[in-house]
Amino acid sequence: MDIDKPEQEILEELKEAFAAQYGDTQGARCFFAPGRVNLIGEHTDYNGGHVFPCALTIGTYAMARRRGDREIRFHSLNGSEERYITCSLDDLEPEGKSGWTMYPLGVVWTFQGQGMILPEGFEMEICGNIPAGSGLSSSASLEVLTGFVLKSLYGFDVDGVTLAKIGQYSENNYNGMQCGIMDQFASAMGLKDHAIFLNTADLSYTYAPVLLEGKKLVVTNTNKKHRLTDSAYNDRRSSCEQALKELQAAAPIENLCDLTPEQFTVLESNIRDEDRRRKAKHAIYENYRTLQAVEALQNGDLATFGQLMNESHISLRDDYEVSCEELDVLAEEAWKIPGVIGARMTGGGFGGCTVAIVDDDAVETYRKQVGEVYLKRIGYEASFYVVSIGGGPRELK
Ligand code: GLA
Repeated sequence: MDIDKPEQEILEELKEAFAAQYGDTQGARCFFAPGRVNLIGEHTDYNGGHVFPCALTIGTYAMARRRGDREIRFHSLNGSEERYITCSLDDLEPEGKSGWTMYPLGVVWTFQGQGMILPEGFEMEICGNIPAGSGLSSSASLEVLTGFVLKSLYGFDVDGVTLAKIGQYSENNYNGMQCGIMDQFASAMGLKDHAIFLNTADLSYTYAPVLLEGKKLVVTNTNKKHRLTDSAYNDRRSSCEQALKELQAAAPIENLCDLTPEQFTVLESNIRDEDRRRKAKHAIYENYRTLQAVEALQNGDLATFGQLMNESHISLRDDYEVSCEELDVLAEEAWKIPGVIGARMTGGGFGGCTVAIVDDDAVETYRKQVGEVYLKRIGYEASFYVVSIGGGPRELK
């Protein structure tokens, strides 16, 4: 779906599809939850570090209503997989399940596991305008959306932070992806024109205004099709856990990101394997860069913010090794353009998108120059989106 499509048109399509699927729209309600882009603080959220994401105005929409029986029915307007999937409230266990409905079903399963029992099922029509496979958290937005739908339809008393935790729990335990909490938190707690400065060690957070006067936030999609994200992601996470164990033999720390770069320099020889040492180094330095970046933003020093974004990319490329040729071409070409304040890969990596801060009058040059070099080097086109920072989940009346 086109990311520029007006919300009103999306709602019309959603209503039509709901009626076609479930007979009529009587008593059905519409909801939205956003995707996210992370400005800096990558692969720190499962190491007790800081992240700095913001919710986007694009995301996932649903129309939903309760049913009088034990059935749950999902239909989606997007995607190449089976679009209509049903399940009984009495058969929610993950065994034998697959496909996109694992995300909403995992959330229902988690609600029930936490004692929020659904007295009856529901039916839901879903559509989203986050480009597929872009790494802008379409799955987290679907999880948060489902939690918000359940809260609204059944009157469960859950706040935004709890919705984020439920989404992460469900993804870890139902889908087997050992993600941190950043994506779900950004979707559940988004605030228009603000990024969320979140400490993942204790979930304390503040909102920082991102008023890019005379500048745009540009997200560039590699459109890379085959990504090995989940297994490589889980591997990185175990390397960090192993490195933490080795460091804990020498220092009383709870998380890798408890260490400053200086402390790490003193302790790093405790990590026996060179590769693992570099992975830990990334997490610790990236956490430090995030603290510096937020401070720079607060001081109105965007140049330093941009420089730290670039350093983040280099560390993700060389030390953490989660970049790829496609992302490197996008970031490295961006750095050459006057008026690009900073550019880096965003999200888990291995494909997906970069995020850049670009002067208004350099956006066209950026699009043209990066686009041409990308096509020449990679063989297919990148996509460019000028994005806006939006709020968290909401009901649409
Ligand atoms: C994915 C995960 C997040 C986070 C990022 C990397 O998006 O879902 O929890 O770890 O990768 O920063």
